[in-house]
Amino acid sequence: DSTIIQPLHLAWCSGALSGAPLLTKSTTLQDLPGVFADHTCWQSLAGSKPVYHVEMFATPDRPGELYTGVTHLMPGKVGEEFFMTRGHFHARREQGEVYIGLRGEGLLLLQDEQNSTRLERVYPGSVHTIPGFTAHRLINTGNEILSALAVWPCSAGHDYSALKNGFALRVVDDAGSVRVMEVNHD
Ligand code: PA5
Ligand code: NI
Repeated sequence: DSTIIQPLHLAWCSGALSGAPLLTKSTTLQDLPGVFADHTCWQSLAGSKPVYHVEMFATPDRPGELYTGVTHLMPGKVGEEFFMTRGHFHARREQGEVYIGLRGEGLLLLQDEQNSTRLERVYPGSVHTIPGFTAHRLINTGNEILSALAVWPCSAGHDYSALKNGFALRVVDDAGSVRVMEVNHD
């Protein structure tokens, strides 16, 4: 005899997950030293100001399984630079990920191992297929929380140290418009 299982649930408009135990990770400004260009401004704001929260289902991480999580990135700036996630390559470089925009507006910054970059606009319903070998970072360019759903292999892992010189683009508020700046590492 067949039973109908109550599935997990995602509230499309808020990104809230429910229906199973969740893991939550909060990242504050003080957790992000060296991430924003204006160090003095970062220091003056730092404290425990929340920048983003990640909520995910507590999926058992067996080989071949997938994690499902939602990132909620606050609106805000350090100097003129918009709030963003730390960003990472996957420890297993070949493993990709899918992001789907749920609320707010922003950008997904992608950078490959040759430091080629591209930006994709993130908005409710936007779909982003992040290939393997590609570092990724969310940037909130709007005035409300940017929430995005992510699905990725449990075995992917995070490598936060590989981007030694950081990302090659910075995104700033230039008197009300979004400006993309190339970073000179020389
Ligand atoms: O798996 C992902 O790529 C996301 O869930 C990120 O981990 C999340 O957006 C937080 O970013 P980061 O891990 O770079 O701090
Ligand atoms: Ni990832």
